[in-house]
Amino acid sequence: MSRSESGNPPRRPALLERLRAYGPTEGTSAPRPEAEGRLTRSVGMTLEAVGLNVSVGRQCQVINRDGRCIEAEVVGFDDEIVYLMPIKRVEGLEPGARVIPVSSHQGMRIGPRLLGRVVNGLGQPLDDGGPLRGEDFLDFAPHDINPLKRHPISEPLDVGIRAINGLITVGRGQRLGLFAGSGVGKSVLMGMMTKYTTADIVVVGLVGERGREVKEFIDHILGPEGMARSVVVASPADDAPLMRLRAAQLCSRIAEYYRDQGRNVLLLMDSLTRFAQAQREISLAIGEPPATKGYPPSVFAKIPQLVERAGNAAKGEGSITAFYTVLSEGDDLQDPIADAARAILDGHIVLSRRLAEEGVYPAIDVEASISRAMPNIVDESHLKSMQRFKQLLSRYQQNRDLINIGAYTPGADPETDLAIERFPHLRAFIQQGLNQPVQFAESVNFLQKTLQPAGAQGAGQSGPGQRGPQAAGNNRRGPLAAQHGGQGRR
Ligand SMILES: Nc1ncnc2c1ncn2[C@@H]1O[C@H](COP(=O)(O)OP(=O)(O)O)[C@@H](O)[C@H]1O
Ligand SMILES: [Mg+2]
Repeated sequence: MSRSESGNPPRRPALLERLRAYGPTEGTSAPRPEAEGRLTRSVGMTLEAVGLNVSVGRQCQVINRDGRCIEAEVVGFDDEIVYLMPIKRVEGLEPGARVIPVSSHQGMRIGPRLLGRVVNGLGQPLDDGGPLRGEDFLDFAPHDINPLKRHPISEPLDVGIRAINGLITVGRGQRLGLFAGSGVGKSVLMGMMTKYTTADIVVVGLVGERGREVKEFIDHILGPEGMARSVVVASPADDAPLMRLRAAQLCSRIAEYYRDQGRNVLLLMDSLTRFAQAQREISLAIGEPPATKGYPPSVFAKIPQLVERAGNAAKGEGSITAFYTVLSEGDDLQDPIADAARAILDGHIVLSRRLAEEGVYPAIDVEASISRAMPNIVDESHLKSMQRFKQLLSRYQQNRDLINIGAYTPGADPETDLAIERFPHLRAFIQQGLNQPVQFAESVNFLQKTLQPAGAQGAGQSGPGQRGPQAAGNNRRGPLAAQHGGQGRR
């Protein structure tokens, strides 16, 4: 000791530094001596302890007399009483159990080799790929970005989905909501984006899903192809609410890490609603009064905190483009989470149960969806085509009932005639096969073709009359292709 102090003093900090790099790979680290408390009450998910002098957010270990240990986090206090919530499921806690504060320095190993891995909300591996390895140590504490330093959304991100690229163009660093009921195709759409996007890395957060769905998503929807470029953070519905919250925060943190490395990250979080529900469970359990439809006010503070972590960093520093799924049944605009999400996100994509029932996949309701960043990132002609597409589609929908019962007389209104003639092509534009990526340029090209009335296509002045090789190679040969083939008749 004295030798190292006198002989080689500068080595000490260097060694400490190095040791820190090998810091905790799992949720907790060794207890530090500090006043320990005693468990006095346990009701539902909430634990109450006395004798602790710790701040909110602090990690503690609750230790039974038999040595069994449960990890918990301080979520609030009331005078002398400290409220804690377990991070994992609790069983067999006893009154008077010791509550020992531990270091809150939490993190995980990270680096390029994290790709393909599945971790839980504490950054512990869930797959059987062994311990996480990586060059860097990722501290879980979030870091803020000065809003004035954020680079504006200025270029599109190719997500590989024709309807989105063409009609709801997503910008790098944009944050969108994916609004849909259950079973309408959110997971499948997210899987397609993971595989087909041009983003460098995809971070997928599965928060509050059923455990079976998590496995299905990883094995079947993402598959090896999707997994190779993504990191999955999963916390199924039966995890403790704190764990689910942590999972949502961790996938944002992982995305931030890759953004800081200058990468373009696509963050897919399923779902924001379950994140809000986890926060609601915690807040209600510690006695926060519910305000809007059972949601306490703190929930509405947590959503922007989470969502604001995505987006662009400073110029040239990478981006996080994020999709947050929001469960919403039908036109339920009353749902407070959907409302809050709409207000904070830069756009929303609505999946329609009616379209899914008609077998139109992805079931994107183009009329109800909007990308607020689109006007700033696409050229004039693309924007005009998008508007024209929506006009024609909505003209058809307005007259749909009349048309279906045969009460519309062709020729009564040229715009409606055009909408009827184009409708099968508009639909074909939205439909896209599961195994069929559609690149951005191809999407825009196809959009312009889709809008041309049958008569105009034969002229071929602007070139799209001939079937582009890329379109023919990848695209489904739906009604549009058939129509191209048959246009010579006119
Ligand atoms: N693009 C698609 N093509 C064909 N079927 C689809 C497509 N998307 C969804 N489906 C069907 O809908 C079901 C539910 O989709 P899923 O993505 O799991 O819904 P959600 O995640 O919204 O609950 C799938 O099992 C599948 O049968
Ligand atoms: Mg799903």
